[in-house]
Amino acid sequence: MARIGAIVPAAGSGLRMGMGTKKQYLTLAGVPLLGYALKTMEDSPTVQEIVVVVGPGEENYCCDAVVKKLGLNKIAAIVQGGSERQDSVYNGLLALSPDIDIVVVHDGVRPFLNQDILVEVVAAAQKYGAATCAVPAKDTVKLSDEDKFVTRTLPRDCTWLVQTPQAFRYKLLMTAHRRAQEDNLLVTDDTALVESLGGQVKIIMGAYENIKITTPEDLDVARAIIETAGQGGLW
Ligand code: C5P
Repeated sequence: MARIGAIVPAAGSGLRMGMGTKKQYLTLAGVPLLGYALKTMEDSPTVQEIVVVVGPGEENYCCDAVVKKLGLNKIAAIVQGGSERQDSVYNGLLALSPDIDIVVVHDGVRPFLNQDILVEVVAAAQKYGAATCAVPAKDTVKLSDEDKFVTRTLPRDCTWLVQTPQAFRYKLLMTAHRRAQEDNLLVTDDTALVESLGGQVKIIMGAYENIKITTPEDLDVARAIIETAGQGGLW
């Protein structure tokens, strides 16, 4: 049976939140935000081990305030991240057991992932090498130059807003990260690294509620989702 490992990057500075406490550790219904993503991975029969990536010096805090508090048993390591998300994921990769076949990467600040999507993304990575969940763009997406003049309008029918989880064959993701380092390529999600190698990435339908908590308004949305679903409903 394939061995599946998860990396949960949570080493961002959270500057866009503009609050004293880092957003990863803000509590939602009494649970630290990071705890939701970790609990989803913990509860997945598919995932065998989890590596959490946190900011420098936060390892003990994360261990006490999140891992022990929630009684998580699949945490193989809590490691320090880097200055960019890509660096953090790479540090996580280095900490996974070398016999892992499939790696799932899921943002620590996406609390509302459902298990069905996780299973589908992993299955697609086993089949195609790399997969991500994403939702169809509801608005038309345009590209601009630095002066905010539109340079291109993307056809809405095939425009997707990419989320996590993303899943990969372990060797493919490792190769993609190493090549990016050699080429000084910096991207904001891991599938872009596979794309840069010319590899195919399969899209799996995500969920609009699988939001990334980035700014204070997102916290209001998150509270509303919890109120509607009930925390138990989410887990
Ligand atoms: O910055 P972005 O919104 O893409 O962050 C997505 C996830 O990556 C968050 O969970 C954040 O904590 C994490 N991250 C990280 N290391 C960084 C930057 C972001 O682990 N240097």
